[in-house]
Amino acid sequence: MDLSTSQRTDMCGTLTAADVGRTVTVCGWVDKRREHGEHLAFIDLRDRTGVVQCVVNISHDLRSEYVASMTGSVRLRPDDTANRDLATGEIEIEVSEIEILAQAEPPPFPLDERTEVDETIRLRHRYVDLRKERMQRNLRTRATVNSALRRGMEEQGFVEIETPMLIASTPEGARDFVVPSRKEPGSFYALPQSPQLFKQLCMIGGIDRYYQIARCLRDEDLRADRQFEFMQLDAEMSFVGQEDVFAVISHAVAEATEAVTGERPTEFPRISWLDAMERYGSDKPDVRFGMELVELTPIFEGTEARVFQAPCVKGIRMEGGVDALSRNQIDALVETCQRWGAKGLAWMKVVAGDDGPSLDAGVAKFLSAEESAQVIAALEAEPGDMVFLVADERPLVRHVLGLLRLELGKPPVNEGGLHFLWVVDFPLFEGLGDGGKPIPAHHPFTMPHADDVHLLDEGGEALLGVRSQAYDLVLNGWELGSGSIRIHRTDVQSRIFELLGIGQEEAQAKFGFLLDALRFGAPPHGGFAFGTDRLTALLVGETNIREVIAFPKTQSGADPLTNAPSPIDAAHLDDLGLRVLPPST
Ligand code: AMO
Ligand code: AMP
Repeated sequence: MDLSTSQRTDMCGTLTAADVGRTVTVCGWVDKRREHGEHLAFIDLRDRTGVVQCVVNISHDLRSEYVASMTGSVRLRPDDTANRDLATGEIEIEVSEIEILAQAEPPPFPLDERTEVDETIRLRHRYVDLRKERMQRNLRTRATVNSALRRGMEEQGFVEIETPMLIASTPEGARDFVVPSRKEPGSFYALPQSPQLFKQLCMIGGIDRYYQIARCLRDEDLRADRQFEFMQLDAEMSFVGQEDVFAVISHAVAEATEAVTGERPTEFPRISWLDAMERYGSDKPDVRFGMELVELTPIFEGTEARVFQAPCVKGIRMEGGVDALSRNQIDALVETCQRWGAKGLAWMKVVAGDDGPSLDAGVAKFLSAEESAQVIAALEAEPGDMVFLVADERPLVRHVLGLLRLELGKPPVNEGGLHFLWVVDFPLFEGLGDGGKPIPAHHPFTMPHADDVHLLDEGGEALLGVRSQAYDLVLNGWELGSGSIRIHRTDVQSRIFELLGIGQEEAQAKFGFLLDALRFGAPPHGGFAFGTDRLTALLVGETNIREVIAFPKTQSGADPLTNAPSPIDAAHLDDLGLRVLPPST
């Protein structure tokens, strides 16, 4: 692409031996400066494409991060000084003219990739941080992802529609950010946690296929994969079942992945939520590696070993664990599992015996010969392996062993390839709360599984067995996105609200507009949304989405660059009809 302008003929990082002999003008920042005697300096000039070495033998006052324009002729470097690691390493510019375009104070931190810089300092001077090759690459990859997603959706007939930012609350399970109304003191807009309700209204409005790369806001605790503000590829479609949704989303994700990596993912396998929980102890399994949880409960039915007298026993095998783990490390794992809620972690070594492998050390002495043999067989364990068992209530066993599996086996973020996985048949409710009221696992517009609708009338524990038509897309252990087939009938929607303990009045006040709309002819519809920050981070091999966002917040939700959040003055508060209470102690 030609990026020349009235001020430059070429980009720094694109000059090669083919340009030798040309007179060029490049513009950029002084990356490095090396003096060779009084009147000879080598200056690396940097722009978004990379650096080029400029040989300067005229007097100048260039310092680190000054912005300059350099004109000169391109020549080959002497053979022994060529740098094969650098795109422009074979050439240099013999500078005849320098113009300083802007002076610069010394940068607040070194711009090389090796120096670890405190997050707050990086973000306070984000404009300097963005000059780094890593940030330049990440933000450009992000743009590549967005444009591939747009193309991917549009070629499937999706229409881009913007939904409003100042709305009434959307139920996505986090806290809303709110905006006070000046015209109606005491009233507030909520900023959208997602475009959920509007996209459903678009379906009722006959749009048929809607999409948007949407900004969403959620006031929740921040983590590596969570920011207050984030972007979703949000989509909704009419007259569909979940397979239709999988097909269009898989296509868009494949487009984006191919655009970044050059390889098109072809496998988007399915796993049921229950299977994921039983085999990986997680609803977002990282399937880049095995180490699956193995069911051992039947082996310990009627066991003499107190440790294993529990409703559920499962185990995992760590190949070669005997040599890989020291006694101290094992003790630390036991403690970690206790912190995760387990009563303990039973461990044993698999050793070679005369009659085949047997169990040794740890809790081995509590097991009968029969139990040992069955554990070894079930885990397919070999001499040199370590086996870890947890006995407890089933959800706890899955939870703890799921975390232990990651602790022992999870590859680094940029290893093991990209493994997409659709997790299907989520439960409709994730548990029973106060007074036996079910807690929705997704938002309350999710359609129950057709085969389980009758269980809704049974109430109580039976509700926990109701599957929903909700699904997640998982990539390498990250929840990339979620979606569902929606309820498009008012009677079913009212029934769900009733179960959730949302009374008619409350439902009408909160979502009356949706309930009204459903009465005017809603097509069966469903959709999906996934975090483009997360997809981009995984595609570039970053473990924190902050690294793919131009101006993110810190872990505590602050913006050290603009100082947000910050107080507003008294007159402004008056105008909004607000008074700030002193902080509660
Ligand atoms: P859900 O709440 O699961 O579903 O969100 C979908 C995806 O959005 C991303 N995401 C986030 N990314 C960064 N920071 C956050 N704080 C954050 N919260 C969510 C995740 C997540 O999987 N309306 C439904 C979708 C639907 O049913 O169509 C929804 O928003 O990648
Ligand atoms: P104890 O009999 O409590 O001393 O435990 C003996 C061993 O079994 C220790 O290594 C404990 O960490 C482990 N352990 C205790 N309770 C459990 C459990 N519920 N599941 C797995 N291991 C356990």
